[in-house]
Amino acid sequence: MTQQDTRKNAAPSWDKAGWRAYPRVQMPDYTDQAALQAVEAQLRRYPPLVFAGEARRLREQLADVAAGRSFLLQGGDCAESFGEFSADNIRDTFKLLLQMAVVLTWGAQLPVVKVGRMAGQFAKPRSAPTETVDGVELPSYRGDIVNGFDFTPEARIPDPNRMLAAYTQAAASLNLLRAFSTGGFADMHRVQSWIADFVGGPEAAKYRDIADRIRDAMAFMQAAGVNSDTAHQLGKVDFYTSHEALLLEYEEALARTDSTTGLPVAGSGHMIWIGDRTRQPDGAHVEFCRGVQNPIGLKCGPTTTADDLKLLLDKLNPANEAGRLTLIARFGAGKVGDHLPRLVRTVQEHGANVVWSCDPMHGNVIKSSTGYKTRPFDSILREVREFFAIHNAEGTIPGGVHFEMTGKDVTECTGGVRAVTDEDLSDRYHTACDPRLNASQSLELAFLVAEELRARREAAAPARGAKAV
Ligand code: PEP
Ligand code: CO
Repeated sequence: MTQQDTRKNAAPSWDKAGWRAYPRVQMPDYTDQAALQAVEAQLRRYPPLVFAGEARRLREQLADVAAGRSFLLQGGDCAESFGEFSADNIRDTFKLLLQMAVVLTWGAQLPVVKVGRMAGQFAKPRSAPTETVDGVELPSYRGDIVNGFDFTPEARIPDPNRMLAAYTQAAASLNLLRAFSTGGFADMHRVQSWIADFVGGPEAAKYRDIADRIRDAMAFMQAAGVNSDTAHQLGKVDFYTSHEALLLEYEEALARTDSTTGLPVAGSGHMIWIGDRTRQPDGAHVEFCRGVQNPIGLKCGPTTTADDLKLLLDKLNPANEAGRLTLIARFGAGKVGDHLPRLVRTVQEHGANVVWSCDPMHGNVIKSSTGYKTRPFDSILREVREFFAIHNAEGTIPGGVHFEMTGKDVTECTGGVRAVTDEDLSDRYHTACDPRLNASQSLELAFLVAEELRARREAAAPARGAKAV
């Protein structure tokens, strides 16, 4: 019997409430159980936010990423919030992801799978259960789906009714995203013109060459009669949603059975991921995620051991299906070399089929000289470069990138061509949790990743003029 057969047969039965019997971490203890149960009952009656067929389609597209036939772009807020919710914010982040995707498509010469950290990214794991300000200690803020950001004892009490507000916001966000994806907003020609506006500024002029090439390619297609009227694909995009599956009461209540396959599916978003703090192989989060058919992300940090990773590969993808599991590496600039090679080899030796994606955000948080939590653009870029260099050396596929970003002109991460300094951070620091790249920094990063992708492609291509053998 092959190893794969053993794994398939070993998968124990699963129930959407089964996670309740496992150790839970990073989840609130609701004091009002009756209110919690009423909310859960209500969510169970609500329609799912996404449909099984869509999650399956994303899985197929991620299988292409695993095989090196596509590239994954995942990004959005660290934490969506009720206060920052607006059509403009959704539009701006969506618009930015489309621009980044076009730039990456140019670099990779491959389709780009677009996944927002949107329409459900509300719950946050925290490094400490409480926080202390001016000698006052209160429970930590855990995201708007759990409790309030205000530093008051009342705001910090977990309120199950917040799950209903989060559901409503996610539904409205998805409705707008679906309209943007198919209603003409996402037309490739418009996206290309937004990119041209960015490189029109003096700071970003160094990316003009790439933008010009993209424009020429579009102009050529137009001349050849390929436009959004004749090729409908150019006028619309596939866009998917994702979030950390942290608040399991919410996830369980939105889990559904796929009527086509009869299998369970998370109805809260197309892709869900397991955070670096909740990936215990015998913990509640892994137990929930292993049973749903959606594509699953798994954050891998410096403390991820080879033994744990093997257990997780078997638990989360027992049939070793391509597109099911995305490993999201987040080690910190300068530390990728200490961890990624050993984990890449573990995956190879295990024969596991995964997508490798790079999250250069969560290992690069520092405290600025002005006291703000920030991430220097140069560290983010350095981690991405290290990620590519290691995959190039190991002969494996750098499948995607995962960013915390917003379409707004915030000042939360330092650096970039329109440089944000430590002193600027106080100007527009709006995040509900971790510092995000602003629109200019995100697009710049896309140009730099595109250059990595192009270099990789050119290194793989046979030298021009070389004789075929
Ligand atoms: C996140 O993605 O916002 C997050 C908390 O990441 P990690 O689990 O990798 O720390
Ligand atoms: Co974050």
